[in-house]
Amino acid sequence: MAASSTPSVYRATTTAPVNIAVIKYWGKRDTTLNLPTNSSLSVTLSQRSLRTLTTASCSPSYPAEDTLNLNGKPQEIQSSKRTLACLSSLRALRKSLEDADSSLPPLSTFPLRIVSENNFPTAAGLASSAAGFAALVRAVADLYQLPQTPRELSRIARQGSGSACRSLMGGYVAWRSGELVDGSDSLAEEVAPASHWPEMRALVLVVSAEKKDVPSTEGMQTTVATSELFAQRVSSVVPERMAAIEDAIRDRDFPKFAEITMRDSNTFHATCLDSWPPIFYMNDVSRAAVRLVHDINRAAGRTVAAYTYDAGPNSVIYYEEKDSELVAGTVKAILGADVDGWSGSFYEPLANVTAPGVP
Ligand code: ADP
Ligand code: DP6
Ligand code: CO
Repeated sequence: MAASSTPSVYRATTTAPVNIAVIKYWGKRDTTLNLPTNSSLSVTLSQRSLRTLTTASCSPSYPAEDTLNLNGKPQEIQSSKRTLACLSSLRALRKSLEDADSSLPPLSTFPLRIVSENNFPTAAGLASSAAGFAALVRAVADLYQLPQTPRELSRIARQGSGSACRSLMGGYVAWRSGELVDGSDSLAEEVAPASHWPEMRALVLVVSAEKKDVPSTEGMQTTVATSELFAQRVSSVVPERMAAIEDAIRDRDFPKFAEITMRDSNTFHATCLDSWPPIFYMNDVSRAAVRLVHDINRAAGRTVAAYTYDAGPNSVIYYEEKDSELVAGTVKAILGADVDGWSGSFYEPLANVTAPGVP
């Protein structure tokens, strides 16, 4: 944080990574507090390719209202209850520091200016809301010099976007749904650091950079209200898979990790199709990549690759480094993807290799 000459401007800049769930969060039991119907588990990707960059500043000289500029465009945050909830929780924490120490500048009373940029498609099913709200919370927490741990901040980020609570940590991260009505136990926790499984890789195939028709928030509400498959997913399918995938991660058992990941992606998209009206996030290219992964695994005689799809058509394929030729090499050969690294042309149909873990 740096203070300039009068009037003071205080500023903090941070980046946050994307996380891609292997057990999907889909459904809210409380839309105000943003509490999920089920626990979920994700892998945090490295920031080498995909990241949000956010600067938070505050000053007594700023116009009265807090502002957020996203990818160069001013956002209507006064009507975004979830953004306001994050900012007011962070302000309250700063206020309690100021109340305890009168020598601190009264930053909690100054308007905030937040400027954020995603270096990857926003609202396209690549977890922009996760990296975006994690970066927003981290930047303001840094600006306010808050002592809270990532776990404590995850409660705040969760209110911005559920998946964001998992982007405050690296490696393998569980979001425990919690049981309390006030949501105080609905938090993220690191199940294992990225270094626990250094072989793990994620190949991100950008099938489309278009904004999705049905935002995640709206889609999951339709599913909760209308899908008959959904209740079974929440009551038995997800709890069993959470336990099993945590075992697979502990044992670095890739075939088990992969099967659960692929099945959970499929179950999630099945509940979308079972919603009324049905919701389609995957497209023909997504389905071609699913078939290709099954073909690669069949040809290898063992499971070497696992696909997963968020609420969008873009694929993430997990594999181990030792199988990179088999997986990334084959995907490149068959789908014509530029998978050798950041191509500089992100909006090409297929792009990018990245590895889990916050760098
Ligand atoms: P995605 O699949 O990309 O997460 P969502 O529908 O869940 O798509 O959320 C997209 C929304 O998240 C955006 O319309 C915007 O409101 C919010 N968002 C994305 N990036 C940021 C950011 N960097 N800072 C603040 N909010 C963001
Ligand atoms: C399919 O976290 O974007 O990516 O809480 O309404 O902002 P809101 O939803 P969001 O939903 C993510 C859904 C998912 C699965 C996941 O990331 O677990
Ligand atoms: Co999202």
